[in-house]
Amino acid sequence: MTSVTAPSTSATVRVPAKVNLELLVGPVREDGYHALSTVYHAVSLFDEVTVSYADEWGLTVAGPRADGVPTDGSNLAARAAQELARAGGIDEPVHIRIRKDIPVSGGMAGGSADAAATLVACDHLWGLGLSREALEEIAADLGSDVPFLLAGGTAMGSGRGEVLAPVLARGTYHWVFALSDGGLSTPAVYAECDRLRSAFTVPEPKPSPEMMQALRSGNARLVAEALANDLQPAAISLMPELGDILDAGMEFGALGGIVSGSGPTVAFLVEGTEAALDLAVSLTASGTVRDVRRATGPAHGAHLVAGPRPD
Ligand code: C5P
Repeated sequence: MTSVTAPSTSATVRVPAKVNLELLVGPVREDGYHALSTVYHAVSLFDEVTVSYADEWGLTVAGPRADGVPTDGSNLAARAAQELARAGGIDEPVHIRIRKDIPVSGGMAGGSADAAATLVACDHLWGLGLSREALEEIAADLGSDVPFLLAGGTAMGSGRGEVLAPVLARGTYHWVFALSDGGLSTPAVYAECDRLRSAFTVPEPKPSPEMMQALRSGNARLVAEALANDLQPAAISLMPELGDILDAGMEFGALGGIVSGSGPTVAFLVEGTEAALDLAVSLTASGTVRDVRRATGPAHGAHLVAGPRPD
């Protein structure tokens, strides 16, 4: 018996958010970016991106956090599809549907995540079968965090964040994320970091032995002690209430707290599922945060969950 497979018309990819367990910011480079030494950690807050063949290029955003996401060509996911089409010599327009659950402008790389997901989805839909290295190269041109969102897990980032190296990390980590009203612009936070440090000579950033040892041990308490973010003072300077949220989370029993990336989301590491629930309830009741989300890490990077298949 022969079976006939209908042509694939869409592909759906799930992609996680990230938090930086360590974000050490060095001097400004000649290209205007900052030299970074970071430890990325993917967490289980997910966006879903579906790409479908269409008569013309288009993009729609839906889901609990759709507000504030641009739907024109400036959206990083739209740019990802265009760049991949160019690289693969493809002339097949797609419509991109993003189901957003990652906070927008929150320091959790939501836009970069959607770009990574779009690369994987379009690669499948168009049947390009590009290597991981080829996808990573396009990803790096789109943004410093995009290669990590392809990879997921826990990884070191250097260069401007786009050069990845594996990290020996054990264990599952439980997180509570405190979301704030409004976002912070990443360039503005880097500029504020430069302003705050203008009187100092900033050294080249190097990964800390404390974080590497903590991750090898799989001990959440040690990881909590080693959390570090050079952008945190800048984010707090621009949004002082972040300091209050950090204090509140620690008072309510978190093992550690840190501004996520360039903020304003604040990430709290806790002992386990129950502690996460307790902290989420306490933070919500305190009225200091707009919304609270729980998640675990590490999570897988951008991966196909449906299709290519007929709609
Ligand atoms: O790479 P990406 O486009 O995500 O970076 C957004 C902005 O963040 C850059 O335009 C730059 O202002 C700042 N940035 C930086 N140094 C880095 C990464 C980002 O100054 N290593």
